[in-house]
Amino acid sequence: MAPEASEDICEDHVLNGRKLSKKIRSEIRAEVEKLVEKHRISPKLLTVIVGEDPGSQMYVRMKTKASNKAGILSEHYDLPASTTQDELLALVDKLNNDPKVHGILIQLPLPNHIDEKTIIGAMTPLKDVDGFSPSNIHRLFYGGELLSSATPHGIVTMLDAVGLSDLTGKHVVIINRSTIVGKPLIMLLLNRNATVTVCHSRTKDLASFTKQADVLVTAIGRRKSKDDPYFITADMIKEGAVVIDVATPNGDVDFENVKMKARCLTPVPGGVGPMTITMLLRNVVDAYVAQVSGSK
Ligand code: GUN
Repeated sequence: MAPEASEDICEDHVLNGRKLSKKIRSEIRAEVEKLVEKHRISPKLLTVIVGEDPGSQMYVRMKTKASNKAGILSEHYDLPASTTQDELLALVDKLNNDPKVHGILIQLPLPNHIDEKTIIGAMTPLKDVDGFSPSNIHRLFYGGELLSSATPHGIVTMLDAVGLSDLTGKHVVIINRSTIVGKPLIMLLLNRNATVTVCHSRTKDLASFTKQADVLVTAIGRRKSKDDPYFITADMIKEGAVVIDVATPNGDVDFENVKMKARCLTPVPGGVGPMTITMLLRNVVDAYVAQVSGSK
Protein backbone atom coordinates (compact mmCIF):
# COMPACT_ATOMS: atom_id res chain seq x y z
CA MET A 1 0.00 0.00 0.00
CA ALA A 2 1.19 3.53 -0.77
CA PRO A 3 1.87 5.74 2.26
CA GLU A 4 -0.70 8.32 3.40
CA ALA A 5 -0.79 11.45 1.28
CA SER A 6 -1.06 14.86 2.98
CA GLU A 7 -4.72 15.60 3.50
CA ASP A 8 -6.29 18.75 2.08
CA ILE A 9 -4.03 19.76 -0.81
CA CYS A 10 -3.31 16.11 -1.68
CA GLU A 11 -6.40 14.05 -2.36
CA ASP A 12 -6.01 10.43 -3.39
CA HIS A 13 -2.24 11.10 -3.75
CA VAL A 14 -2.83 13.92 -6.25
CA LEU A 15 -1.19 17.24 -5.36
CA ASN A 16 -3.81 19.64 -6.61
CA GLY A 17 -2.10 22.77 -8.00
CA ARG A 18 -5.42 24.30 -9.04
CA LYS A 19 -6.81 24.12 -5.52
CA LEU A 20 -3.65 25.52 -3.93
CA SER A 21 -3.51 28.29 -6.55
CA LYS A 22 -7.12 29.23 -5.89
CA LYS A 23 -6.40 29.65 -2.20
CA ILE A 24 -3.22 31.71 -2.74
CA ARG A 25 -4.84 33.85 -5.47
CA SER A 26 -7.72 34.76 -3.21
CA GLU A 27 -5.21 35.78 -0.49
CA ILE A 28 -3.36 37.88 -3.09
CA ARG A 29 -6.63 39.52 -4.21
CA ALA A 30 -7.45 40.50 -0.62
CA GLU A 31 -3.90 41.81 -0.12
CA VAL A 32 -4.13 43.88 -3.33
CA GLU A 33 -7.42 45.45 -2.20
CA LYS A 34 -5.82 46.61 1.03
CA LEU A 35 -2.68 47.86 -0.71
CA VAL A 36 -4.65 49.88 -3.25
CA GLU A 37 -6.65 51.46 -0.46
CA LYS A 38 -3.40 52.42 1.26
CA HIS A 39 -1.29 53.56 -1.70
CA ARG A 40 -4.06 54.84 -4.02
CA ILE A 41 -2.48 53.21 -7.08
CA SER A 42 -3.16 49.78 -8.56
CA PRO A 43 -0.36 47.33 -9.32
CA LYS A 44 0.17 47.00 -13.04
CA LEU A 45 1.75 44.24 -15.13
CA LEU A 46 3.04 45.09 -18.58
CA THR A 47 3.44 42.15 -20.95
CA VAL A 48 5.30 42.09 -24.26
CA ILE A 49 5.31 39.51 -27.04
CA VAL A 50 7.61 39.86 -30.02
CA GLY A 51 6.45 37.80 -33.01
CA GLU A 52 3.52 35.45 -33.33
CA ASP A 53 4.26 32.30 -31.38
CA PRO A 54 0.80 30.81 -30.59
CA GLY A 55 2.07 29.26 -27.33
CA SER A 56 3.31 32.66 -26.13
CA GLN A 57 -0.05 34.26 -26.99
CA MET A 58 -1.89 31.65 -24.95
CA TYR A 59 0.43 31.84 -21.92
CA VAL A 60 0.34 35.64 -21.81
CA ARG A 61 -3.47 35.65 -22.09
CA MET A 62 -3.63 33.30 -19.10
CA LYS A 63 -1.23 35.51 -17.13
CA THR A 64 -3.14 38.75 -17.82
CA LYS A 65 -6.53 37.16 -17.09
CA ALA A 66 -5.29 35.85 -13.73
CA SER A 67 -3.73 39.24 -12.95
CA ASN A 68 -6.97 41.10 -13.64
CA LYS A 69 -8.93 38.70 -11.44
CA ALA A 70 -6.50 39.47 -8.60
CA GLY A 71 -6.99 43.24 -9.02
CA ILE A 72 -3.76 43.77 -10.97
CA LEU A 73 -4.07 46.03 -14.01
CA SER A 74 -2.49 44.85 -17.24
CA GLU A 75 -1.39 46.27 -20.55
CA HIS A 76 0.00 44.34 -23.47
CA TYR A 77 2.34 45.15 -26.36
CA ASP A 78 2.22 42.86 -29.39
CA LEU A 79 5.32 43.68 -31.42
CA PRO A 80 6.08 42.36 -34.92
CA ALA A 81 8.80 39.71 -35.36
CA SER A 82 10.77 42.35 -37.30
CA THR A 83 11.21 44.50 -34.15
CA THR A 84 14.91 45.31 -33.71
CA GLN A 85 16.85 44.84 -30.50
CA ASP A 86 17.28 48.62 -30.21
CA GLU A 87 13.54 49.17 -30.56
CA LEU A 88 12.84 46.63 -27.82
CA LEU A 89 15.53 48.19 -25.61
CA ALA A 90 13.89 51.60 -26.10
CA LEU A 91 10.55 50.13 -24.97
CA VAL A 92 12.17 48.52 -21.90
CA ASP A 93 13.74 51.88 -21.03
CA LYS A 94 10.35 53.62 -21.34
CA LEU A 95 8.68 50.99 -19.12
CA ASN A 96 11.51 51.12 -16.57
CA ASN A 97 10.76 54.82 -16.16
CA ASP A 98 6.97 54.58 -16.09
CA PRO A 99 5.86 54.82 -12.43
CA LYS A 100 2.48 53.29 -13.30
CA VAL A 101 4.14 50.04 -14.47
CA HIS A 102 5.28 47.81 -11.59
CA GLY A 103 6.04 44.57 -13.42
CA ILE A 104 7.47 43.93 -16.88
CA LEU A 105 7.15 40.51 -18.49
CA ILE A 106 8.76 39.94 -21.88
CA GLN A 107 7.57 36.54 -23.01
CA LEU A 108 10.35 34.23 -24.19
CA PRO A 109 11.50 33.03 -26.62
CA LEU A 110 12.39 36.18 -28.51
CA PRO A 111 13.21 36.09 -32.25
CA ASN A 112 16.77 34.94 -32.97
CA HIS A 113 18.06 38.40 -33.94
CA ILE A 114 17.35 39.69 -30.40
CA ASP A 115 19.70 38.72 -27.57
CA GLU A 116 17.56 37.63 -24.60
CA LYS A 117 20.30 38.27 -22.08
CA THR A 118 20.71 41.88 -23.25
CA ILE A 119 16.97 42.55 -22.98
CA ILE A 120 16.61 40.87 -19.59
CA GLY A 121 19.66 42.72 -18.31
CA ALA A 122 18.17 46.06 -19.37
CA MET A 123 15.11 45.65 -17.16
CA THR A 124 15.00 47.42 -13.82
CA PRO A 125 15.48 44.50 -11.40
CA LEU A 126 12.56 45.62 -9.23
CA LYS A 127 10.21 45.35 -12.23
CA ASP A 128 11.62 42.02 -13.45
CA VAL A 129 8.70 39.86 -12.30
CA ASP A 130 10.20 36.78 -13.97
CA GLY A 131 13.21 37.02 -11.67
CA PHE A 132 15.54 36.48 -14.65
CA SER A 133 17.76 39.57 -14.34
CA PRO A 134 21.36 39.31 -13.05
CA SER A 135 20.57 41.15 -9.84
CA ASN A 136 17.60 38.87 -9.01
CA ILE A 137 19.71 35.80 -9.72
CA HIS A 138 22.42 37.25 -7.48
CA ARG A 139 19.87 37.65 -4.65
CA LEU A 140 18.79 34.04 -5.18
CA PHE A 141 22.41 32.87 -4.85
CA TYR A 142 22.74 34.64 -1.53
CA GLY A 143 19.49 33.24 -0.16
CA GLY A 144 17.54 36.51 -0.10
CA GLU A 145 15.08 35.98 -2.92
CA LEU A 146 12.92 39.00 -3.77
CA LEU A 147 11.56 38.16 -7.22
CA SER A 148 12.31 34.55 -8.10
CA SER A 149 11.49 32.67 -11.26
CA ALA A 150 7.80 31.69 -11.17
CA THR A 151 7.97 27.97 -12.00
CA PRO A 152 10.64 27.07 -9.39
CA HIS A 153 8.90 29.34 -6.89
CA GLY A 154 5.62 27.50 -7.60
CA ILE A 155 7.36 24.15 -7.04
CA VAL A 156 8.76 25.08 -3.63
CA THR A 157 5.39 26.57 -2.64
CA MET A 158 3.80 23.19 -3.43
CA LEU A 159 6.45 21.50 -1.28
CA ASP A 160 5.61 23.97 1.52
CA ALA A 161 1.96 22.93 1.20
CA VAL A 162 2.83 19.26 1.82
CA GLY A 163 4.97 20.07 4.85
CA LEU A 164 8.33 20.10 3.08
CA SER A 165 9.44 23.69 3.72
CA ASP A 166 12.59 22.45 5.39
CA LEU A 167 14.25 19.83 3.22
CA THR A 168 16.96 18.85 5.71
CA GLY A 169 17.91 15.23 5.09
CA LYS A 170 15.82 15.04 1.91
CA HIS A 171 17.28 14.15 -1.45
CA VAL A 172 15.70 16.12 -4.29
CA VAL A 173 16.41 14.99 -7.84
CA ILE A 174 15.73 17.51 -10.61
CA ILE A 175 15.58 16.41 -14.25
CA ASN A 176 16.16 19.73 -16.02
CA ARG A 177 19.02 22.22 -16.25
CA SER A 178 17.32 25.19 -17.95
CA THR A 179 17.82 28.78 -16.84
CA ILE A 180 14.06 29.15 -16.23
CA VAL A 181 13.44 25.96 -14.21
CA GLY A 182 16.37 23.72 -13.23
CA LYS A 183 19.08 26.21 -12.37
CA PRO A 184 17.05 28.60 -10.16
CA LEU A 185 15.35 25.60 -8.54
CA ILE A 186 18.74 24.27 -7.38
CA MET A 187 19.25 27.48 -5.37
CA LEU A 188 15.75 27.56 -3.88
CA LEU A 189 16.17 23.95 -2.75
CA LEU A 190 19.68 24.47 -1.35
CA ASN A 191 18.35 27.49 0.56
CA ARG A 192 15.87 25.02 2.14
CA ASN A 193 18.68 22.58 3.11
CA ALA A 194 17.95 19.91 0.48
CA THR A 195 20.56 17.57 -0.94
CA VAL A 196 20.17 18.23 -4.67
CA THR A 197 21.06 16.11 -7.69
CA VAL A 198 20.56 17.49 -11.19
CA CYS A 199 20.02 15.16 -14.15
CA HIS A 200 19.62 16.15 -17.80
CA SER A 201 19.61 14.84 -21.36
CA ARG A 202 23.24 13.64 -21.13
CA THR A 203 22.78 11.79 -17.82
CA LYS A 204 23.41 8.06 -18.04
CA ASP A 205 21.14 5.63 -16.16
CA LEU A 206 18.48 8.13 -15.08
CA ALA A 207 16.67 5.48 -12.99
CA SER A 208 19.66 5.05 -10.68
CA PHE A 209 19.15 8.69 -9.61
CA THR A 210 15.34 8.88 -9.60
CA LYS A 211 15.11 5.77 -7.36
CA GLN A 212 16.97 7.70 -4.64
CA ALA A 213 14.69 10.74 -4.73
CA ASP A 214 12.53 11.72 -1.77
CA VAL A 215 11.31 14.49 -4.06
CA LEU A 216 11.52 14.12 -7.83
CA VAL A 217 11.03 17.18 -10.06
CA THR A 218 10.88 16.30 -13.73
CA ALA A 219 10.73 18.71 -16.68
CA ILE A 220 11.81 16.76 -19.76
CA GLY A 221 8.81 17.83 -21.85
CA ARG A 222 8.82 15.29 -24.65
CA ARG A 223 7.65 11.75 -25.29
CA LYS A 224 10.18 8.92 -25.01
CA SER A 225 8.66 7.07 -27.96
CA LYS A 226 5.25 6.43 -29.49
CA ASP A 227 4.81 3.01 -27.86
CA ASP A 228 6.63 3.81 -24.62
CA PRO A 229 5.75 7.48 -24.00
CA TYR A 230 6.73 8.11 -20.36
CA PHE A 231 10.28 8.86 -19.25
CA ILE A 232 9.26 8.39 -15.60
CA THR A 233 7.65 5.08 -14.74
CA ALA A 234 6.66 3.51 -11.42
CA ASP A 235 9.78 1.29 -11.26
CA MET A 236 11.92 4.47 -11.22
CA ILE A 237 10.21 5.93 -8.11
CA LYS A 238 11.02 5.42 -4.44
CA GLU A 239 7.97 4.35 -2.38
CA GLY A 240 6.44 7.43 -0.74
CA ALA A 241 8.25 10.02 -2.89
CA VAL A 242 6.75 13.38 -3.78
CA VAL A 243 6.73 13.73 -7.57
CA ILE A 244 6.42 17.11 -9.30
CA ASP A 245 5.78 16.90 -13.04
CA VAL A 246 6.62 20.21 -14.71
CA ALA A 247 6.41 19.01 -18.32
CA THR A 248 3.85 20.62 -20.63
CA PRO A 249 1.60 20.03 -22.46
CA ASN A 250 1.96 16.31 -21.61
CA GLY A 251 3.51 15.17 -18.36
CA ASP A 252 6.74 13.11 -18.19
CA VAL A 253 5.23 10.74 -15.65
CA ASP A 254 3.15 7.58 -16.05
CA PHE A 255 0.55 9.18 -13.79
CA GLU A 256 -1.79 6.29 -12.95
CA ASN A 257 0.98 3.83 -12.04
CA VAL A 258 3.27 6.29 -10.25
CA LYS A 259 0.29 7.53 -8.20
CA MET A 260 0.03 4.09 -6.58
CA LYS A 261 3.57 4.35 -5.28
CA ALA A 262 4.12 8.05 -4.59
CA ARG A 263 3.07 9.93 -1.47
CA CYS A 264 1.74 12.52 -3.89
CA LEU A 265 2.10 13.52 -7.49
CA THR A 266 1.16 16.62 -9.50
CA PRO A 267 -1.19 16.15 -12.46
CA VAL A 268 -0.67 17.72 -15.90
CA PRO A 269 -2.65 19.89 -16.41
CA GLY A 270 -3.68 21.23 -13.00
CA GLY A 271 -0.38 20.90 -11.13
CA VAL A 272 2.61 23.16 -11.66
CA GLY A 273 0.99 25.23 -14.47
CA PRO A 274 -1.52 27.15 -12.31
CA MET A 275 1.13 27.57 -9.59
CA THR A 276 3.50 29.25 -12.06
CA ILE A 277 0.89 31.88 -12.87
CA THR A 278 0.08 32.31 -9.17
CA MET A 279 3.75 32.97 -8.37
CA LEU A 280 3.88 35.57 -11.13
CA LEU A 281 1.01 37.38 -9.38
CA ARG A 282 2.94 37.10 -6.11
CA ASN A 283 5.98 38.65 -7.81
CA VAL A 284 3.94 41.51 -9.31
CA VAL A 285 2.55 42.37 -5.87
CA ASP A 286 6.00 42.10 -4.24
CA ALA A 287 7.49 44.29 -7.00
CA TYR A 288 4.68 46.83 -6.51
CA VAL A 289 5.17 46.93 -2.74
CA ALA A 290 8.93 47.38 -3.14
CA GLN A 291 8.33 50.28 -5.55
CA VAL A 292 5.52 52.12 -3.77
CA SER A 293 7.24 51.78 -0.42
CA GLY A 294 10.58 52.84 -1.93
CA SER A 295 12.65 49.80 -0.79
CA LYS A 296 15.39 48.37 -2.98
N1 GUN B 1 8.52 31.47 -21.72
C1 GUN B 1 8.31 30.26 -21.12
N2 GUN B 1 8.21 30.41 -19.78
C2 GUN B 1 8.37 31.73 -19.53
C3 GUN B 1 8.37 32.49 -18.33
O1 GUN B 1 8.22 31.98 -17.21
N3 GUN B 1 8.57 33.84 -18.49
C4 GUN B 1 8.75 34.42 -19.71
N4 GUN B 1 8.96 35.73 -19.74
N5 GUN B 1 8.77 33.73 -20.83
C5 GUN B 1 8.57 32.39 -20.74
